[in-house]
Amino acid sequence: MTVELPDEAATARLAVSLLDALPGELAGWTILLSGELGAGKSTFARALISALGHSGTVPSPTYTLVEPYDLPRVCVYHVDLYRVAGEEELRYLGWNELDSGFRLVEWPDRAPGLAQAAVIAIVFAYSGEGRRAELEGLSERGAAALGRLRRAGNSNQEN
Ligand SMILES: Nc1ncnc2c1ncn2[C@@H]1O[C@H](COP(=O)(O)OP(=O)(O)OP(=O)(O)O)[C@@H](O)[C@H]1O
Ligand SMILES: [Mg+2]
Repeated sequence: MTVELPDEAATARLAVSLLDALPGELAGWTILLSGELGAGKSTFARALISALGHSGTVPSPTYTLVEPYDLPRVCVYHVDLYRVAGEEELRYLGWNELDSGFRLVEWPDRAPGLAQAAVIAIVFAYSGEGRRAELEGLSERGAAALGRLRRAGNSNQEN
């Protein structure tokens, strides 16, 4: 499923629409956010975390690797693996301890094993002045959520 995101507000709307399409229980869900530098991964994560009730800033986890948010519905872990060299480094990240949360992972290609646990992959790309997102279900429940998103309709939607 491809969605055109002409501006930052469109990216934020997609994040809110996706949240609406996800089930009530978000614990254990992993969403992969890929795309080159500046493609809009953090913008999307920020909007999702705010939509879940976080009111403060959402700093980039590029240096801290993980930024946790203890929110009413779920504990969110915003992860950025840009600086991670491979799977073994995830041990230091304490990845297993994040199991109970809702994970948003930037630069997931740094640790390919992660994709096995993920339900939805979103690839962001530059598109003129704006961006474009390609969403793919990686599991049955991920595909079901994207089906709900598609049926709910998104004003930016291409197909
Ligand atoms: N849909 C959009 N249209 C236009 N500009 C956008 C869009 N989404 C994000 N941007 C802008 O792109 C810039 C980079 O966004 P962001 O930090 O989210 O990218 P990123 O993919 O997380 O980058 P990095 O790989 O460095 O972490 C920001 O200035 C943001 O405002
Ligand atoms: Mg980022």
